[in-house]
Amino acid sequence: MLENVETLIAKLIDEVDYPHAADLFKKLSGGKRLRARLILTIAPSAPSAPLLGAIVELIHAASLLHDDVIDEAQLRRGVASVNATEGSKTAIMLGDILYSKAFSELTAFDPSISRAVAESVTRLSVGEMMDVSMAENFNTDRELYLKMLYLKTATLIEACAFSAAVLAGKDASAHAIYGKNLGLAFQIVDDILDITSDEATLGKPSLNDFSEGKVTLPYIDLYERLENGDKERLIANHGKVLSEEEKGWIRSKMDEFRIIEHSYSHARALCDEALEAIGEDPLLRAIIETVIQRSH
Ligand code: FPP
Ligand code: MG
Repeated sequence: MLENVETLIAKLIDEVDYPHAADLFKKLSGGKRLRARLILTIAPSAPSAPLLGAIVELIHAASLLHDDVIDEAQLRRGVASVNATEGSKTAIMLGDILYSKAFSELTAFDPSISRAVAESVTRLSVGEMMDVSMAENFNTDRELYLKMLYLKTATLIEACAFSAAVLAGKDASAHAIYGKNLGLAFQIVDDILDITSDEATLGKPSLNDFSEGKVTLPYIDLYERLENGDKERLIANHGKVLSEEEKGWIRSKMDEFRIIEHSYSHARALCDEALEAIGEDPLLRAIIETVIQRSH
């Protein structure tokens, strides 16, 4: 089924009718295709599910192209980012092509679906703006951080689950709750992996979030537990390129206070909420497990 999504993505890119954009797109790594998988899992026999999967993956790819420009990221999924090799202008324009093409195709869907997806992209953009402005300071407000995570990451996944349920004639609001909590858990695991994984696994430098100014959940938890002097040391490292010594210190303090276990429990609790909303569903449980247990 996922092959159908890949074929449709290739077809949509072809229809743009601009070989330069198609060539650049082909060089992108497709990633895990979590959003398309989710749609296909919820609506396996809906004829338009693969197209919706392709649309959402194009939107996701566009958001990452723009995000790498905003974050000035050099690597994406282990390969040089488009902004690194082609420049920011090209990365922005390629993103514009992908998401406008996706929106053109979205008009063929029921308005409840096109609206849900379109509104989620507005939220995604608000979330990205919040993420950038929050990175200017050392944010210790957990609620604000979780709100930003919902907007930046969970909202598109929520819209996927909702829309797929509409396509399949299933309970759309229950699936939306599942998608929202899955999305939040996904991003919390992302935040954890930034700390626990190495550069080879991540495809980008480790502890990169904190260097980018992003005070993710594990850092908020750590800050709350540190003694005053150590609090200052953590703040002093915020938004800087970290030396190996400071990376080691941050990791050792995270170990001391069992911060990563704590963040995993938070992600687990969200997954439990996700599953509670939809009742027992082995395939949707399996998606949850791949999100929690992933290593990159
Ligand atoms: C990655 O976050 C970024 C996102 C999930 C969303 C980015 C959204 C936009 C740029 C809004 C514009 C949207 C469109 C459709 C053009 P991250 O930086 O925390 O993760 P990373 O480590 O993977 O970069
Ligand atoms: Mg980024």
